[in-house]
Amino acid sequence: MRITVLTGAGISAESGLPTFRASDGLWEDHRIEDVATPEGFARDPELVHRFYNMRRAAASEAQPNAAHRALAQLQDHHDLTLVTQNVDALHERGGSRDVIHMHGALDGALCAECDHRWPAPAIMSPDDRCPNCAAPATRPDIVWFGEIPYHMDRIWTALEGADLFVAIGTSGNVYPAAGFAQHASRNGVECVELNLQTSMNARDFDRQIMGPASETVPEWVATLL
Ligand code: APR
Repeated sequence: MRITVLTGAGISAESGLPTFRASDGLWEDHRIEDVATPEGFARDPELVHRFYNMRRAAASEAQPNAAHRALAQLQDHHDLTLVTQNVDALHERGGSRDVIHMHGALDGALCAECDHRWPAPAIMSPDDRCPNCAAPATRPDIVWFGEIPYHMDRIWTALEGADLFVAIGTSGNVYPAAGFAQHASRNGVECVELNLQTSMNARDFDRQIMGPASETVPEWVATLL
């Protein structure tokens, strides 16, 4: 079966990584426009690097949970396209291959001057120079608000060609990911949502499975093995 899965911060919540819009959400300490926009980076690169250095450290400490591992098992039995909005590497560390990071990844560094990409060091600073062009223009390879998410052509194709689309742990607040279920549905694809609470785009799904991902994802995967 061709399955396209979209994951959000909720799948990593039980690994200890805070989600964005919960009360203890990540943005609490910082205004989004200060740490997750190109303008915020231009205004205060030191603050933005500090913010992502903290997230990179937390992500490297975190462990994949049963939900990440169940999706890796699913990939062994079905034609799975795994798209994540998350910038942690817990899917890969849980055994998934070929994960599509549409919002980039904490493990990646990007030169704002020459577009060169390389593995991000644990700590990045505005003084770092690009290994390719030596400009002091290094930034986390993260897609910020107002920027274009990565791999969109491949994602739209995977949504249109799936037998099943499943969204896990995402609030449906941020586009284009929040529009994936509607796009799949318009192409005749069954859409299921696994979430802890009702999302903003719940009406786009044929059915919901409510509960913590570490329980609902292994249970759902087991029905397909
Ligand atoms: N199990 C399953 N779902 C959970 C759990 C859990 N244990 N804990 C929280 N959730 C769900 C919440 O109900 C919510 O629907 O995870 C979702 C988290 O929503 P957000 O914090 O908005 O995260 P996400 O949807 O991934 O945000 C999308 O917005 O901030 C930007 O670029 C950032 O990728 C992010 C994007």
